[in-house]
Amino acid sequence: MKTVGVIGAGQMGAGIAQVAAQAGYRVLLSDLDLAHAEKGKAGIAKQLDRAVAKEKISQSDRDAALAHIEPVGDVSAMAPCDLVIEAATEREEVKRKIFEAVGKVLRDDAILASNTSSIPITRLAQAAPDPARFMGVHFFNPVPVMGLIELIRGLATSDATVAAVEAFGKTLGKEIVHANDAPGFIVNRVLMPFLNEACFALGEGVATIPDIDTAVKLGLNHPMGPLTLADFIGLDTCLEICKVLFEGTGDPKYRPAPLLIKYVEAGWYGRKTGRGFYDYSSEEPVPTR
Ligand code: CAA
Repeated sequence: MKTVGVIGAGQMGAGIAQVAAQAGYRVLLSDLDLAHAEKGKAGIAKQLDRAVAKEKISQSDRDAALAHIEPVGDVSAMAPCDLVIEAATEREEVKRKIFEAVGKVLRDDAILASNTSSIPITRLAQAAPDPARFMGVHFFNPVPVMGLIELIRGLATSDATVAAVEAFGKTLGKEIVHANDAPGFIVNRVLMPFLNEACFALGEGVATIPDIDTAVKLGLNHPMGPLTLADFIGLDTCLEICKVLFEGTGDPKYRPAPLLIKYVEAGWYGRKTGRGFYDYSSEEPVPTR
């Protein structure tokens, strides 16, 4: 495997492109258009510059990684890829359209994988050029920091596809876990009820935002409190995944917290909109309740 395509140059796509380029792959990075793809590459350059400044990587490794990344205008440029990872918006119809378009140019032996955090892989595979060469490859944010990849096989995914993507993931220095195609896979099955519970606790007046976060951060030795993490992931994304768990299992224990729904209805999605449980307009986040 030498050439990897990454579709979507946002936070996740750029992170995936970065780690693949640092591992020596040629990376074709696409987004809505060339300008968006180039913006993604510029963000990666900033991350790599930071790593050079901290003496984590050398200037020549930074230059080599950046030289491996080629922004492209659309997915029709993905023809040379051995593996294409889709990391576009978490909307099924968007992903289906992308698979249809990229399916027209992919080689017969190329693998297509989706970084979806919640959409069933077997269902998505129906839009892929070949369900046997399609699977889920779930990275975590921030990709360069987080050591895990969840691999999810659909009903039709072949053993050869799983083996090839596992081998690729290991070359990125990530630990690999295998999950069945069940709602939320492993991490979000465990994480989302936890974040959702923090929203219930806040909504029921158990404690303030900073006290809930401090309690979990220090009491459980987590890097971030749950409300900070929910803002970091995006409250809209958290709500979507809660809904997938709720609808996919039919179990009321997964019902989204009313306060989480309200925040999303207000357009307060967290860091990405500048306001969620915290206000991010000043240097230090300020709790909003
Ligand atoms: N990209 C690259 N590197 C980053 C980064 C980013 N966006 N953000 C932070 N880092 C690096 C920093 O450069 C720093 O590196 P060094 O130690 O080498 O200097 C390191 O991460 C620690 O960063 P900071 O000192 O700035 O801040 P911190 O110690 O508070 O750590 C954090 C920040 C890594 C984000 C940490 O708080 C953390 O691990 N939080 C939990 C993140 C998490 O749970 N992610 C999973 C979300 S769920 C998901 O992604 C899947 C889904 O489907 C929803």
